[in-house]
Amino acid sequence: MNKINLGVLASGRGSNLQSIMDACESGRIPARVAMVISDNSGAFALERARRAGIKAEFIDPEDYSGKADFERKIVEVLQQNDVELVCLAGYMRLVGKGLLAAFNERIINIHPALLPSFPGLHAQEQAWNYGVKFSGCTVHFVDEGMDTGPIILQAVVPVYASDTAETLAERILEQEHKIYPEAVRLFCEGKLEIKGRKVYIKE
Ligand code: GRF
Repeated sequence: MNKINLGVLASGRGSNLQSIMDACESGRIPARVAMVISDNSGAFALERARRAGIKAEFIDPEDYSGKADFERKIVEVLQQNDVELVCLAGYMRLVGKGLLAAFNERIINIHPALLPSFPGLHAQEQAWNYGVKFSGCTVHFVDEGMDTGPIILQAVVPVYASDTAETLAERILEQEHKIYPEAVRLFCEGKLEIKGRKVYIKE
């Protein structure tokens, strides 16, 4: 099977990026990470990519006049690297029209809660504060909303009385590292079909 070129957008530590790089490396996913882009010069994700010999570029939003301009640059870099699937991995910006149009139905994201509950920032803390007994994580296609796109995979984790927001986040992260590479695999093998809000898995 031909390898799919992935582009990963990350703003921070990049542990999900790592799980995708590892799955590509081991052959579990028929893909390669072709390019990592960050909007944060200090993102450890950039360092992880460089250590693995993967191209990594900091694109400074401050250098651009606005979101459209900034995303035009991101699209240019992704296209120059023949990226076919864009994976958001802790990318701390809402994706705009330009990026969405260039990669229609080819942008996915991981969110650390069971969507549609607790979208947005600090989802693990939101869940813990709310007092839910189960939370988890969601991989979904990206649309113009905040964590609203069609859901590909979810994993559930229990919330214990002894938890803190941090211990819950750790338990969720373990599952993120499983379902994100799995969702990428399904995409790369052509097994995902979007119909309206629903994603059907052809396996
Ligand atoms: C993860 O919890 C992910 O679900 C959320 O941001 C965090 C990124 O972590 N979108 P990392 O940078 O992948 O380690």
